[in-house]
Amino acid sequence: MPSGALRDSYALVIVPNFNERVIAPSLLAADFSKIGEEVGRAVQAGADWMHLDVMDGHFVDNISFGPAIVQTVDKASDVFLDVHLMISRPDHYLQRFIDAGSDLITVHVEAGHDVAETLRRIRAAGRQAGLALNPATPISAVEPFLGQIDLLLCMTVVPGFGGQAFMPEVLEKISAAASLREQGGHTFHIEVDGGIDAVTVAPCYKAGANAIVAGSSTFRAPDMAAAISAIRNA
Ligand code: DX5
Ligand code: ZN
Repeated sequence: MPSGALRDSYALVIVPNFNERVIAPSLLAADFSKIGEEVGRAVQAGADWMHLDVMDGHFVDNISFGPAIVQTVDKASDVFLDVHLMISRPDHYLQRFIDAGSDLITVHVEAGHDVAETLRRIRAAGRQAGLALNPATPISAVEPFLGQIDLLLCMTVVPGFGGQAFMPEVLEKISAAASLREQGGHTFHIEVDGGIDAVTVAPCYKAGANAIVAGSSTFRAPDMAAAISAIRNA
């Protein structure tokens, strides 16, 4: 994220545009031996955001990385940092991810915290607030918070690992989220994450998603720019 006064003025003017397609390659599928270069490669290839998957070994059955890597990516590039916290206590670790330079912080509705209060704190810090729900969690679980978020993340796999198969049964929930957004006059992005490529993204767009996380299908493609462009234009 930009630093100092520039960052503060950004925080004031950012209004999510849910009609705009945003492609966010997931760092989880990158080569960790050269993170800075991998971020540069994604940006060169047309990435709009970088998606950073933080896993604590409790909320999900995997451990990835923490605030130090978020900070490394922040220093390596000005790209917008979309930080996905798959951790049991997002409230406890929140400040560290704010300090690390996250632009948007997504927390899970299933995690053990006061969801409304965590979302409030994210926005109070001048960052965008995201709320995620797992494939098995009904849309009713996030309904009370729709007025407090800049992004709703509908997981299209059970979170924990990259490279899993897209779950089409989530499409119905994406449509329901888009309807609730319209009924409530909200402007949050609807993001999908898990098993997304140029084929599976098409029904997601149709259902109302606009922010697209893609790990394996971007970082591991033979031509990353072509892969991002195919996802954007599907
Ligand atoms: C899954 C993570 C995803 C993951 C997606 O637990 O939240 O962001 O990196 O990876 P692909 O696109 O390979 O399914
Ligand atoms: Zn993710």
